[in-house]
Amino acid sequence: MKAIVCEEFAGVEKLQYKEVPDPIAKKGQVVIDVKASGVNFPDGLLVQGLYQMKPELPFVPGSEVAGVVSEIGEGVPHLKVGQRVIGITQLGGYAEKVACNAMHTMPIPGPIPDDEAAALVTAHATAHHALKQRAKIQPGETLVVTGAAGGTGLAAVQIGKAMGAKVVAVCSTQEKLDVAKANGADILINYKEKDLKAELKALNDGKGVDVVYECVGGDAFDACSRCMAWNGRLLVIGFASGEIPKFPVNLSLVKGYSVVGVFWGSFTAHQPQDFMQNMQELVKWYLEGKVKVVIDETFSLADTDKALTKVMGRGVKGKVALTP
Ligand SMILES: NC(=O)c1ccc[n+]([C@@H]2O[C@H](COP(=O)([O-])OP(=O)(O)OC[C@H]3O[C@@H](n4cnc5c(N)ncnc54)[C@H](OP(=O)(O)O)[C@@H]3O)[C@@H](O)[C@H]2O)c1
Repeated sequence: MKAIVCEEFAGVEKLQYKEVPDPIAKKGQVVIDVKASGVNFPDGLLVQGLYQMKPELPFVPGSEVAGVVSEIGEGVPHLKVGQRVIGITQLGGYAEKVACNAMHTMPIPGPIPDDEAAALVTAHATAHHALKQRAKIQPGETLVVTGAAGGTGLAAVQIGKAMGAKVVAVCSTQEKLDVAKANGADILINYKEKDLKAELKALNDGKGVDVVYECVGGDAFDACSRCMAWNGRLLVIGFASGEIPKFPVNLSLVKGYSVVGVFWGSFTAHQPQDFMQNMQELVKWYLEGKVKVVIDETFSLADTDKALTKVMGRGVKGKVALTP
C-alpha cells in the first residue's frame, strides 16, 4: 500500500510518499481501508520533532481516519468486515490502510461523508472534552475562543454555542471572523487590529470572562490571563503561535480563577469510557445538526506536505482532509 512516511524529524517537505507493507490486524485490532484522513496541527509538529512525544522513526503520521473495515483481529466481537467506521489511530492514518485498536474504532451511524467523518474526531473531540469535563461550562457563561476559525477553535465555537454559552471569537482576519460568526459566534474580535486585553475587559461590565479556550499561546494567552472572571477557567489547548506562555501565578490567586490543562489524547487513555460516551454524544450532535465539520480543502494523500503547509501556515478555516 501507499503511505506517507516520516523518516527524519524535519520540515514537511521531507515526508516520503512511498510503498510500505500492508498492516495486519493483531489481537484486538481491525484493519481499516482508509477513505479519508483528517489533518491536524499536532501532526505537523510531530513530524518536525516538535510535539510532546516523539515516535520511533520511521513512522506514518495521521491520527484520525474514516473508512471500511477490511480485516478483523482476534477478540473483536463488535465490528464486521465491510462496516463503515471512524478510527482514532494515534499514528498510521496517512495511508491507504491502517491497523486500529478496535476500542478506538466506532461504526459510522448515519450518512456522514468520509472526509467529514474523519475530520470530526480530534478537533471536535478536544473542544468537547475541554468544555464538558475540564471547564464544566454552564449555559449563559461567556466563552472566549482564540484561533476561532482554526480546526479546534471552530469546533469550540460550535460546541460552546450548543452548550448555551455566549461565544466570543478571536481571529486574525475579518474573513476568519465571518466563518466563526456563521458557526455561532456572538461577538467578534480581530486581535490583529484591536487590543485583545482592552476588548475582553470591556465585556461583561468589566467583570471578566468565564471560560477561555486558548489555542494560540504567546501574547493571546497573556491578554486572556488578565481578563478572567472570578471562578473562571482558562483552558490551555495549544501554542499555535509557537510561543509557550510563562504565567505569573499571582493572577490566578488574585482573580480566583483556574488554569486548566487539556490533553485530549491522554484523556482517551485515562478515561476510555468517558471518551466513548463523548464520541457518541458528538456524533449524535452532528446528526442533529448541532455541530458540523467545515472542510476547507481536501488534498490527495500524495500531497500531504501541501496540506500540512496550509494548516501550519495559518491558511485553514475549519479542517483539511486527505484522500488516498
Ligand atoms: N490539547 C489538545 O488535546 C489539543 C488537541 C488538538 C489541537 N491542539 C492544539 O491546538 C492548537 C490549534 O490546533 P488546530 O488543529 O485548531 O490548528 P489550526 O487549524 O491550524 O488553527 C490554529 C489557529 O491558530 C492561530 N494562529 C496564531 N498564530 C499562529 C501561527 N503562528 N501559526 C499558525 N496558526 C496561528 C490561527 O488563527 P488566527 O489566524 O485567527 O490567529 C489558526 O487558525 C495547536 O497548537 C494544536 O497543537 C491541542
